[in-house]
Amino acid sequence: MRTLLEVEDLRVDFTVGAHGRRRRLRAVDGVDLVVREGEILGLVGESGCGKSTLARTLVGLQAPSGGRISLGGDLLPRRRPAAVRKRIQMIFQDPGSSLDPRHTVREALLAPLRVHRLADGAGEEARVRELMGLVELPERLLDAKPRSLSGGQRQRVAIARALAVEPDVLVADEAVAALDASATGAILNLLADLRTSLGLTVVFISHDLSVVRGLCDRVAVMYLGRVVELGRTAEIFARPRHPYLQALLAAVPRVGAPIAAPPLEGDEPPSLLDPPSGCRFRTRCPAAFDRCVTEEPALVTRGGALVACHLADRC
Ligand SMILES: Nc1ncnc2c1ncn2[C@@H]1O[C@H](COP(=O)(O)OP(=O)(O)OP(=O)(O)O)[C@@H](O)[C@H]1O
Ligand SMILES: [Mg+2]
Repeated sequence: MRTLLEVEDLRVDFTVGAHGRRRRLRAVDGVDLVVREGEILGLVGESGCGKSTLARTLVGLQAPSGGRISLGGDLLPRRRPAAVRKRIQMIFQDPGSSLDPRHTVREALLAPLRVHRLADGAGEEARVRELMGLVELPERLLDAKPRSLSGGQRQRVAIARALAVEPDVLVADEAVAALDASATGAILNLLADLRTSLGLTVVFISHDLSVVRGLCDRVAVMYLGRVVELGRTAEIFARPRHPYLQALLAAVPRVGAPIAAPPLEGDEPPSLLDPPSGCRFRTRCPAAFDRCVTEEPALVTRGGALVACHLADRC
């Protein structure tokens, strides 16, 4: 599969703290990633590891502090013109807050068509109805306001609005985290269908490994602003090489399996304001040794996956 989106050495810094005590927080720290055309790439990791910051930077809502993002081989400029912005669209956890409560579904879908001058007159109404069909919503809901829709229906409207501009890439940030189990299943099926029918490429962010396991072709695992393992979902979930992914998977309860205690040292990851030297995971890693304190492990290829661990060869 062709590379569609390429991220090289991406860094995103924030300045935090009051005057006099301002400090730099590097939320994304040297991320390299390729997203292939037509794939669903999962992005997982604990709260605060930089998933949303990476997502916002991919879609152009957040300016990078360094590194490069290319789409279809074209380097994306820091300030993206509208024609470039529309190629990468994003949906969020809470479609209730991203949809204007005063606007009907029709108005929500017409807005991007008008902003990007994609249809007019009779073409607009036809396109709006086509978008409703794409996300499997009945046309009678076109005159409804968001408050009268279920969470799953609102998320479908958000997806339809993102698809209105025919993006190359859809970035979904915790798009099912606020939904119940049946709405989650339906939205996951919809994303999988859209990938097949439209050839849509999806970056799917979730802290829920079981959701990612069912949907994503490949998964990138982030820890404190960095990618620590990346590979085909079935492979890296069956044989995780990084101790962090091993710990995450051990903490996921599986039907019929005894609940394993996560072997992580400490509940919380260290602060991004003061990340550990060497390997960032070493302070919670059950296998850490001297070299992990002094030397940052590079992301290397092992058995078809990429892994950043000094013990990668022994895994
Ligand atoms: N605008 C901002 N200003 C300062 N710090 C920020 C800002 N946005 C994010 N951060 C910090 O950057 C780090 C990464 O945050 P981010 O929201 O990307 O994490 P996340 O992986 O999406 O977490 P979650 O799973 O909770 O959504 C956190 O330490 C967060 O506090
Ligand atoms: Mg987030």
